[in-house]
Amino acid sequence: MRADVDYQQTDYLVIGSGVAGLRAALELVKAGSVVALAKADTGESNTEYAQGGVAVALSDDDEVECHFVDTVSAGDGHCDENAVKVLVSEGPARISELIEWGAAFDQEGNKLAFTGEGAHSRRRVIHAHGDSTGREIVRALRQRAQMESGLRLVPHTFIIDLLVENDRCRGVLSLDRASSRLCVWQARAVILASGGLGHVYRDTTNPDIATGDGFAMAYRAGARLCDMEFVQFHPTALALPGVPRFLITEAIRGEGGYLRNQRGERFMERYHERAELAPRDVVSRAIVQEIQSTSQSEIYLDLSHLRPDFVRRRFPRVYQTCLGYGLDITRDRVPVHPAAHYMMGGIETDLYGRTNIKNLFAAGEVACTGVHGANRLASNSLLEGLVFGARAGQGALSVESRADSPADPIDLNSFLARPAAAEVAAERLSLQKIMRNFAGVLRSGDGLREAAKALGSMPTSQLDGGWDSTALENANLLTVARLITQAAEVRKESRGSHYRMDYPSRDDETWRKRIVLCRTAEPSFKPLLDADRP
Ligand code: FAD
Ligand code: SIN
Repeated sequence: MRADVDYQQTDYLVIGSGVAGLRAALELVKAGSVVALAKADTGESNTEYAQGGVAVALSDDDEVECHFVDTVSAGDGHCDENAVKVLVSEGPARISELIEWGAAFDQEGNKLAFTGEGAHSRRRVIHAHGDSTGREIVRALRQRAQMESGLRLVPHTFIIDLLVENDRCRGVLSLDRASSRLCVWQARAVILASGGLGHVYRDTTNPDIATGDGFAMAYRAGARLCDMEFVQFHPTALALPGVPRFLITEAIRGEGGYLRNQRGERFMERYHERAELAPRDVVSRAIVQEIQSTSQSEIYLDLSHLRPDFVRRRFPRVYQTCLGYGLDITRDRVPVHPAAHYMMGGIETDLYGRTNIKNLFAAGEVACTGVHGANRLASNSLLEGLVFGARAGQGALSVESRADSPADPIDLNSFLARPAAAEVAAERLSLQKIMRNFAGVLRSGDGLREAAKALGSMPTSQLDGGWDSTALENANLLTVARLITQAAEVRKESRGSHYRMDYPSRDDETWRKRIVLCRTAEPSFKPLLDADRP
């Protein structure tokens, strides 16, 4: 299949218009023209739906060092401590800058208001409009972007693949979703900020855009991916039949909400000393184990002991959304269940977003600096997008200009074989089912091997009815599903979000290392470094 192809050129290309992409673009526009491409509307991203807030050591009783300790501890012995140092120490400046750009975080009096969340030893999470933090951040970053004439945001442009020749990224191939035209975008440097992969699981808090495209295209291009076994399941997604897995923010537990089993008992104290405010992986596992051990089907969030006017004012989005489903959270018990939420692993980068492919950078959820270890501390992701988005921009600024002309031919033949659109529905549903059954909160070697076999035999064939972004997304989901199960099978221990029923303990002696996956090589291992060991 051949198609007419348009050509476009810019100095810098950013894939994604969430927090990481927008922040990177604002760094790059200081030095040249920037195009940021998004596959849906430019406002649609995981960032847009972020509720709880941003963790940042800005309160009077907090310290950067304390944020460091909490992040490393939640990461369960698997963080890159140098990356954590960067995150917590540069975070306050990035937030102050965002406030200067017009972001309005909630205040108490004339000071920022801070809330608590799981595994934080201080109230350090700032928030906006109660529980619409991500929306406010996107609004402020977009408002700032509009002031830059050199920065163009282009919606509904689906990136099919990275164009890599001789280990150097020269641009991307895109599909215009309205016209179905292909376009080659050439640039001096490309920053992948394409977000997460929640839809590899049927139950996810993520919006539809989160189909792991960036992970898959980077893998196809020969990038190194690491920590792919570490998928975070958020403990409290709304669990009503036939209703999307809407997130019920952890900040609700931070403000005193309880988890109860079907008998009405608070059970978290039996699983962790911090009870409802234990690290996220612990709470998710406890919910699943509580359901299994009591043969009860439901777990609930209970806010009925909190003042109703406080709950309505503090969590307006959750209150209104649940009300729309017939639940008054000030009164009714809210059924919740863990759902796929965040990917700790991703494209291996250094602290300036550099990947193993020249001129290709990555930031945000698609990247893996190692900052989150095996389990991300609540509300560290928006901060990561700001800090490492800016840094990836700085990294890309060091790429020297090269006179690539739009007519400079790029061989597109290898990009023209895709899975068949006809197989779309069956493929997505069945792979999501496999992932839920075998690569979810609780895993085992037998299950992961069964999953790998089933995923390995899923059909892929030529696209014959024209380019179809849903079929391309499904192919990407299949790639990331295979990577997750492969890494999860290799790691024979339990750590953070990765729990192996056949290896229930953490094994530092054997497993203090990252699993690195690369299309052109066998899986390899990379040692972890502590901050005081270069
Ligand atoms: P995203 O914001 O997801 O942006 C991805 C961008 O890439 C989008 O513009 C998308 O269109 C584009 N893209 C993807 N694929 C393609 C393609 N093939 N072609 C073109 N464009 C593409 N974290 C916190 O720290 N605090 C919170 O309170 C919080 N709450 C959350 C609540 C919810 C419901 C969810 C889902 C997540 C939450 N998180 C939170 C996590 C956090 O929001 C995300 O990890 C973070 O926003 C990711 O930002 P990003 O810029 O990397 O990606
Ligand atoms: C939430 O509000 O519970 C999500 C916070 C996060 O993902 O860090």
